[in-house]
Amino acid sequence: MVEIRLEEVTKRFGNVLAVDRITLKVRDKEFIVLLGPSGCGKTTTLRLIAGLEKVTSGRIYFGDELVDDGKTTYVAPQYRNVSMVFQSYALFPHMNVFENIAFPARIRKLPKEEVKKRVYELAELLRIKDLLDRKPHELSGGQQQRVALARALMIEPSVLLLDEPLANLDAKLRVYMRAELKRLQKEFKCTTIYVTHDQVEAMSMADRIVVMNQGRIQQVGTPDDLYNKPANLFVAGFIGSPPMNFLECSIDGKGFLDFGVFKLRMPEDWITAVQEVGEVIYGIRPQDIRVYKKEREGAVEFTVYVAEPLGDRIVLTLARDNLWIKALAPPEFTVEMGDRVWISFDFTKAHLFDKRSERLII
Ligand SMILES: Nc1ncnc2c1ncn2[C@@H]1O[C@H](COP(=O)(O)OP(=O)(O)O)[C@@H](O)[C@H]1O
Ligand SMILES: [Mg+2]
Repeated sequence: MVEIRLEEVTKRFGNVLAVDRITLKVRDKEFIVLLGPSGCGKTTTLRLIAGLEKVTSGRIYFGDELVDDGKTTYVAPQYRNVSMVFQSYALFPHMNVFENIAFPARIRKLPKEEVKKRVYELAELLRIKDLLDRKPHELSGGQQQRVALARALMIEPSVLLLDEPLANLDAKLRVYMRAELKRLQKEFKCTTIYVTHDQVEAMSMADRIVVMNQGRIQQVGTPDDLYNKPANLFVAGFIGSPPMNFLECSIDGKGFLDFGVFKLRMPEDWITAVQEVGEVIYGIRPQDIRVYKKEREGAVEFTVYVAEPLGDRIVLTLARDNLWIKALAPPEFTVEMGDRVWISFDFTKAHLFDKRSERLII
């Protein structure tokens, strides 16, 4: 049983505030993903949990045990029973696959027979049994990745930390390994913290996702929470592809949202919710916009700026004056640049954000 708690954890490198008052509880056996753009503090958070860095302030607990408070208490990495896999894999080039996997157990001086048995078990599970005699340079990226993972699992860690482990793989292999890793994590049942900047990776694997930006947590939730109830503009814009459309508008006091070039009548619950706010941002995903070739009641006219057919759908970029919107249409919806189309906005699928605080209103 390992539950990890971070309380107000802050890490500074000189003037750089890498991690800014992070409070988070990772449940036992949970697969949690730290997601955010490059430089937002994901790796630093992982290294703090591993014990490779000390907190500047705040506290980290493994279960009931305080492992780091930046002052008097600091439990070194080797006593935390964590394993970490880095983006670079960091395999030992002069050792073959067997020796690489066995290494963590060897330095712990586990009995030889036991080590051998466990290497074979892991190799079987990760489908690298035929590679045990090879050196790392004789392996593909995906194979190296699996060797690194086997090595990390060798000591039966209670916590597995993975830092962008799929980043160096080609697209096809990445999709394959995503599913494999998700299965493995459930089989091994170890608390897992996985770092990535790739929202699709995060959405597809995580029990819960922690969205970070500039060292701070933006939102913690299930993939479904983040997609359907984003807490603020940052999360709304980061999750989902193509990204959510954001349209600036104001409230006209008569129950309309004013976009400048057109107005939309708001439903009753929206009117009640927006009474206190002025400038707002209307957010709607390309998936939730309906596009028509003919004029219809309540739909707004736009011009096709460009259409990008992707086989299973068409991504449309639509323009009206200085408003730009992306919408998805079915493959049979063939249009040309410059064609007129009409789009309708589904208020049940839309979000409204306060322009000033960037927080979700509805
Ligand atoms: N050892 C270090 N010394 C100085 N600055 C660092 C160090 N490690 C990370 N940083 C800075 O801290 C911030 C967060 O870095 P990092 O945790 O690596 O981000 P991420 O993994 O999300 O890309 C960045 O601005 C980075 O430049
Ligand atoms: Mg990183």
